[in-house]
Amino acid sequence: MEKQRLDKVIASTGKFSRREVKQLVRQGRVLVNGAAPKSGEEKIDPDTAVIEVNGEQLCYRKFTWVLLNKPAGYLSATEDGRGPTVLDLLSPELKKQGLFPVGRLDKDTEGLLLLTNEGGLAHDLLSPKHHVDKVYYARVDGCLTEEDCRAFEVGITLGDGLSCQPAGLKILTAGAVSEAHVTLREGKFHQVKRMLASRGKPVLYLERIQMGNLTLDPALERGAYRLLTESEIEALREIS
Ligand code: URA
Repeated sequence: MEKQRLDKVIASTGKFSRREVKQLVRQGRVLVNGAAPKSGEEKIDPDTAVIEVNGEQLCYRKFTWVLLNKPAGYLSATEDGRGPTVLDLLSPELKKQGLFPVGRLDKDTEGLLLLTNEGGLAHDLLSPKHHVDKVYYARVDGCLTEEDCRAFEVGITLGDGLSCQPAGLKILTAGAVSEAHVTLREGKFHQVKRMLASRGKPVLYLERIQMGNLTLDPALERGAYRLLTESEIEALREIS
């Protein structure tokens, strides 16, 4: 790999800002191949250099993957004049890394949203061919029935004639307002809302709770995020 500035490589892990890296280097708390660098501007090969910070080996990644618990009110876009985007929830260091959302959640939809700068894998995860299930919790106006479940299983045809692939509908509670888990393998525009509306049961609230093997950890507050672990990224690569 092409040589890169040490401070940039360390900051790209999302753990330290460039200013913090500068300080750490000055304090001799950074080692590159066992030796203290003179400055953070020193160029290193991130593929081969062993970098230690505070005595711990740094796990450098070429790509960054973030799992965000998206709150309502944010657009799944990198920039949009109409309001805040999910990138506005990230630290300035992460914001500089060219991250983009992997697919979209509507402005009022909450829950699990991945962001990355790894275009190829992001594309694979969204392709219906790779069978990555997305699971949503939905609260709807109306009483969900077994008939609705069968219609989802067969594949719903939307009002405009668009056909959806077979999907899962698991009723959690049924009443004047019902709750369910909806499982999709594709991601058409407003798909969950349109599928449920086509059954006469409009969505009142929608939250994505799972994508592939990744679930929304209860410890992650709304608006908070964490980096995916190396093994979670590996698991995503195996899917694609
Ligand atoms: N389906 C929807 O209708 N909205 C979302 O945000 C995601 C899936």
